[in-house]
Amino acid sequence: MKNEIYKYGKIEYYDTLPSTNAFLKSRAKDEKESLVVVASSQTKGHGRFDRKFYSPANTGIYMSILLKPKTIGFDATRITSAAAVAVAQTIETLSDKTAQIKWVNDVLIDSKKVCGILTEGSINPKNGTLEYAVLGIGINLFMPENGFESEIQNIAGYIFEEYDPSLKEKFIKEVLKNFFKYYNNNTEILNEYRKRSAVIGKDILVLKHNGTKFAKALLIDDNFRLKVKYPDNTEEFLNSGEISIKI
Ligand code: BTN
Repeated sequence: MKNEIYKYGKIEYYDTLPSTNAFLKSRAKDEKESLVVVASSQTKGHGRFDRKFYSPANTGIYMSILLKPKTIGFDATRITSAAAVAVAQTIETLSDKTAQIKWVNDVLIDSKKVCGILTEGSINPKNGTLEYAVLGIGINLFMPENGFESEIQNIAGYIFEEYDPSLKEKFIKEVLKNFFKYYNNNTEILNEYRKRSAVIGKDILVLKHNGTKFAKALLIDDNFRLKVKYPDNTEEFLNSGEISIKI
């Protein structure tokens, strides 16, 4: 394990971990805000709804950041959204690609997912605020040696064509710089988020636990909810918690 001090705290680099989110959650109560854990690979990387997040060695970034938000309203959705913008901006700075954000937690290049974000929090039962949050970010920097697994072959993408291991630390630092810009100053995330939306104006499928519905995605509101219109002209504001969408 290698340690490094960065502007906001400490980064710990590990070889392989089951899941950087699970590892950091187990330490969350005893550690200071902004501790970052990075693993070269994960054996049990997971995403929303406990879906597997493919985390092979060398070609991706698997990192988690410990947060203890003091700003009221800086909830899991806002953290996820700030991270999506931070990753998209990093892609635009370090590559010649254009990044889009698929509500609420995926970053896409040419409609392929290159990054997934999972914020897991612990709510204080006394006042309903976030006790801590673990922000997990998984990024496919390069094409994995043996390609992507068959289930995700058609939907997964990567950022850089040429393998260059030195890009990894550069990318991590740039994501942290961009993320903390939003996290510490609560500056405008929404515009940056909306202007990269891969969803607004599109026909989508809304996947809920009780079924699937066609809809038109209309807008993202000030609380990062997605407003949709169904074929019967009824409208709904979707919260990210229990819903995913397909474009
Ligand atoms: C998703 O696609 O639904 C979110 C994927 C989040 C993956 C990252 S990789 C680092 C961290 N550790 C995990 O187990 N998950 C997150």
